[in-house]
Parts: sequence; structure tokens; C-alpha cells
Amino acid sequence: MDLGALSGLTVVAIDGPAGSGKSTIGRALASRLGLEYLDTGAMYRAVAFAAIRARVDPDDAERLRAIAEAMDLQLGPDGVVVDGVDATLEIRGPVVTQAVTAVAADPGVRAELRTRQRLWALERGGGVVEGRDIGSVVFPDAVLKVYLTASVEERARRRAAELDELDYDQVAQDLVRRDRSDSTRAASPLVTPDGAVEYDTTGVEVDRIVEDLAAMVEGRS
Ligand code: DC
Repeated sequence: MDLGALSGLTVVAIDGPAGSGKSTIGRALASRLGLEYLDTGAMYRAVAFAAIRARVDPDDAERLRAIAEAMDLQLGPDGVVVDGVDATLEIRGPVVTQAVTAVAADPGVRAELRTRQRLWALERGGGVVEGRDIGSVVFPDAVLKVYLTASVEERARRRAAELDELDYDQVAQDLVRRDRSDSTRAASPLVTPDGAVEYDTTGVEVDRIVEDLAAMVEGRS
């Protein structure tokens, strides 16, 4: 798809490492601005879920791409349905979380999901889109690009609190492993996009962050 087709959309691109607050802030900012919200991490998790169900090895690039292209995905505020199966809980579980790193490193999967993300925004005139390559690759001309950060300790504490069966040390180790692979992979590594506003969310209230970001969007549109 030609990037020119995306000019004129009101896209807010939010990137950052796991646990930096992207989902909480993205959802709240979308509702504050009257825009829809897209969690692109859930799309990568959905492909991993579909691959596991089809018993496709995440390192088999050809079959993985075919799975991504054929996948019927319904992403809504109430859940995630993959090929007619409710995957809301399972995509957050340890099996999918382990497999998703290899899935997200696959260039064929990334190309397919990039196209779907751009179509999603085109159909809505924009939206708040959250992920790891949104301001750098998918929407380089977004109205606002934000790169969220937070200390490893705070990120691990947030993640462990979300799923109370998880223990803090295990979560912290998993975060560091995922940070490393997301930042060093060849296809669309996690980087601070050119022109992005860096925002450290450590110890800052969600309402405060949302108001700061909403003021930036309103100042630019
Ligand atoms: O944000 P999350 O933990 O749900 O993301 C799941 C995985 O997908 C994670 O390993 C990063 C990857 N991802 C990506 O590579 N690009 C995106 N735009 C979103 C997520």
C-alpha cells in the first residue's frame, strides 16, 4: 500500500517495550480523543495462537505467512476471536507469549499485519495504534508519535499485578528477554521512531499522561 494513501488520517502511534503502559494509556487516550484503539501486539499473538493450533513450527516462514494471510481475526473491546475460536485469555498465556517472539520476527507475518493495520486506520479515518514499529514503519506520518518507557522494575511490577499467578522475578526475566529480542531482530526492530516524543511513565498517574498526550494531539491537528 502506498503511504500517501494514509496522509490526512488522524493516527496516534504509540510504541515502547513490554509493560511501558502502552495498552492502558492507548485505550484511555483513544476514548479521550473519540478515536478507536488498535492493539497490534494482540494481532501478533493471534498469529502465534493460530500457528500453535495448526501445529505449524514458528520457524517455518512459508507456512507461518500462509497462516497469517488466511487468519480471520475479530479484535474488539470484549475479546479476540481467531478463526471463530475465542482466544481472549489464551493469547495472554505463557505458551503464546513464548511463541510470539519468533512469529513477530518473521518478515512475511509483519508484511501481512502491516497491511491489515493500515487498512484498519483507513476504514476509520485514523485511530490510536499501539505496538513496536507503529511510528517507525507502519505510520511514519502519524499526527503524534509517542515512545513510552518505564524502569524495568516498574514494568515487571505492572505485568505481575495484571496476572496474579505470575511471580515478579519470572516476569522481570521474561521482560528483559523480550526487550532484547524485540530490539535486536532484523525485521522492524523496536526503536524510538524519528520525531517521536519520549515519555517516561515511571511513577506518573495514567490520567496525567493521557492529558499530556491529548494536549499534544490537539496542538497538532
Ligand atoms: O505488546 P505485546 O506483548 O502484546 O506484543 C506481543 C509480541 O509482538 C512482542 O514480542 C512484540 C511483538 N510486536 C511487534 O513485534 N510489533 C508490534 N507492532 C506489536 C507487537
